[in-house]
Amino acid sequence: MSTRPRVSARISAISESATLAVDAKAKAMKAAGRPVIGFGAGEPDFPTPGYIVEAAVQAAREPRFHKYTPAGGLPELKQAIADKTRRDSGYAVEASQVLVTNGGKQAVYEAFATLLDPGDEVLVVAPYWTTYPEAIKLAGGVQVDVVTDESTGYLASVEQLEAARTERTKVLLFVSPCNPTGSVYSREQTEAIGRWAAEHGLWVVTDEIYEHLVYGGAEFTSIATAVPELGDRVVILNGVAKTYAMTGWRVGWLIGPSDVVKAATNLQSHATSNVANVSQMAALAAVSGDLSAVAEMRTAFDRRRQTMVRMLNEIPGVFCPEPKGAFYAYPSVKELIGKELRGRRPQSSGELAELILEEAEVAVVPGEAFGTPGYFRLSYALGDDDLVEGVSRMAKLLSEAH
Ligand SMILES: Cc1ncc(COP(=O)(O)O)c(C=O)c1O
Repeated sequence: MSTRPRVSARISAISESATLAVDAKAKAMKAAGRPVIGFGAGEPDFPTPGYIVEAAVQAAREPRFHKYTPAGGLPELKQAIADKTRRDSGYAVEASQVLVTNGGKQAVYEAFATLLDPGDEVLVVAPYWTTYPEAIKLAGGVQVDVVTDESTGYLASVEQLEAARTERTKVLLFVSPCNPTGSVYSREQTEAIGRWAAEHGLWVVTDEIYEHLVYGGAEFTSIATAVPELGDRVVILNGVAKTYAMTGWRVGWLIGPSDVVKAATNLQSHATSNVANVSQMAALAAVSGDLSAVAEMRTAFDRRRQTMVRMLNEIPGVFCPEPKGAFYAYPSVKELIGKELRGRRPQSSGELAELILEEAEVAVVPGEAFGTPGYFRLSYALGDDDLVEGVSRMAKLLSEAH
C-alpha cells in the first residue's frame, strides 16, 4: 500500500472559505426552522436587471453560442470591456489586453499564477479578502501582510508598505473599495502608493470589482490611470458580479499588458476554455449598457450602510469606522473578547461569532477569515427590515457582556 498522501500537499494547504462556512451553517439552521438573519453574504440582494437576462435568453437560442468560442473571450465582449474601462476609469486599453474569466475569482487566480515564481513576495493589506492568500500560495508566492486597523479606517500608508518591502517583493495588491472593510483610498493616497510602487519597479495587481459602489462623497480612483508611471506593470481585475447583481453568471476579466494576458489566456485555454457564451452575452449587455441599475442599488446600500454603522456604534464595546465603499461594515469587537456572555467567555472573534449565531440567531463573519482577529464583517446587502432586526438582536445580546 502506498504511504503517499492521498491529497497533494499543495491542495491540502487550501483552507475552506470561512465566509462560505458561516453561510452554510446559517443556512442549515434556517433549514431547521430557526429564524437566522445572515450578514455573511457577499452579493447584492437584487435580481439581475431584466434587459441583461433578456440578452442571455436570446443568446441561448443562437446555435453559434452552443459551440466553443475563443478561450480568451468573445471578441465583441473584449472590445466592450476595453470601451467600458476607458469610460469608467479613463484607462486606454485594446481588446487584445482583455481576458474574459469565469468570475473575478478566476481572474485573481490567473493573475497570480501568471506573475509569480516560487518565493516572489506579494504585499497584501490586511484585512484582506479570503481568496487572495490561497491564490498567491497556489502560485508559489509568499504573502507579506501589511496590517491596518480601525484607527486609520483600514488604510495603509506608503511608510507601512515600504517597511514590508524586500528585494523579493514583486507585486503590490491594491484593493479599493475594499472587501472586507469598505475602505476607499483618496486620489492623493492612491497616487502616493502608485508612485512608490513605480519607483521600486513593483507590479500592481488592482481589484476594481467594487468601483461603482462608493458613498458619501468618496470617489473611486483607478491606480492604473492615476499613476501613468506604473507603465505596463499593472493588472486590473474586475467583473460584472457586484455592479450588475450578477454573481451567479460567473463573468469577470483581467486587463494587463499583452504578454501577461497572452500567457494567462494560455493557462485558461487548458483549465476552463471559454466562459459560458450565454453568460458572456449577458455581460456584453451589462457593460455596454448604462449604469442606472447600479445607481439604484447604490442608493439602497447607502441607506443601509448608514443605519448599520449607526446601530453598531451604539453597542458598547463595538467600534465601526465609516465604510466608504463596497457593501460591508467591519467593526472592531476587541473590547468584548474575554467578557462573560450567557455563561461563556469567548476568547476570539470566531468564538464570539459562534455564540451570536447560537444565542441571537445572527450570522456574521469573524475577522479571522480576513487576517485580523478581533473584528466582524457584516454585509449590508440585505433588506432594511432584516438588517435592523439582525443588528438589534446582536445589540441586545452583546449588551449583556460583562
Ligand atoms: C474583492 C473581490 N474581488 C473579486 C471577487 C470575485 O467575484 P466573482 O468571482 O463573483 O466575480 C469578490 C467577490 O466576493 C470580491 O469581494
